[in-house]
Amino acid sequence: MSPADADAHAAPDYAVFGQPVAHSLSPAIHAAFGRQQSIPLRYTAIDVDPDAFATKLARFADGGGRGANVTLPLKEAAAALCASLGENAQRAGTVNTLVRRVDGWHGENTDGRGLVRDLDHRAGLDLRARRTLLIGAGGAARGVAPALLDAGIADLYVVNRTGARADALADALGEPGRVHPRYLEDIAHLGEFDLVINATSAARTSAALPTLPRSLLAPRAAVVDLNYGEAAVPFLAWARSVGAHDIVDGLGMLVEQAAESFALWHGVRPDTDPVYAELRARAALLVTAD
Ligand code: ATR
Repeated sequence: MSPADADAHAAPDYAVFGQPVAHSLSPAIHAAFGRQQSIPLRYTAIDVDPDAFATKLARFADGGGRGANVTLPLKEAAAALCASLGENAQRAGTVNTLVRRVDGWHGENTDGRGLVRDLDHRAGLDLRARRTLLIGAGGAARGVAPALLDAGIADLYVVNRTGARADALADALGEPGRVHPRYLEDIAHLGEFDLVINATSAARTSAALPTLPRSLLAPRAAVVDLNYGEAAVPFLAWARSVGAHDIVDGLGMLVEQAAESFALWHGVRPDTDPVYAELRARAALLVTAD
């Protein structure tokens, strides 16, 4: 065994919990970050039934687990298992990153910061004053909405098939003058938007989103899908067909949220560009899983 292998063997454990989690790119992303930063780490994917999550997470901690990512469908459950929550996790009501502390798990949500970082640094979009439409009010939407508000967007319209969930998200955001919940079926009557974000899981299920009107887009509008790979194809095909000025899928957000998690665990933010470039080269083959 080489010294590096010995280090990796002795290193604290990291993992991503989810179901299904086999397609998760997080192990490969964190391994690449670790190599880049010369930080030995073991990071594995753990498939866990929601009923067994608390038990498996406790076992992971007992075995030396130092940090974890949490993905579908466990992000809300993770928040409930934390001893403390960071500000972004509190506002989102969901956790995608767990950090082991002496008093238990500390939960954070890095999805929103990851999205904003991708949109401004990589896609070069100035988000300030953009009238924004967020489609969906599930876990993904809740994860990104606070960071969008912090980034200085103008009004945020949250539309959802189930209106009560849009209401609940708007309530949780606590800015009634700026955040407006609406039904998905009313989408044609909301005016034009500078930023349109698909945060639904429609393309990951058998039911498609309804066709959206071209009139939703302001002249230089950006259209973003939080999904990547095949799950982003239908919505971004619509964006192209209606002539969106900028079109962004969720691959960059995935890498950026991972970098934020890595920084929480290891105290250093890795360079995301080479990891993003490698994943982008095979993006069409990927299945959204994180
Ligand atoms: P996630 O964590 O990926 O956000 P979720 O919490 O189950 O998953 O939320 C899925 C989101 O996609 C919800 O906003 C859901 O709408 P409902 O709240 O009405 O269920 C939305 N969604 C999923 N399939 C959809 C479809 N075919 N049409 C419209 N919205 C859909």
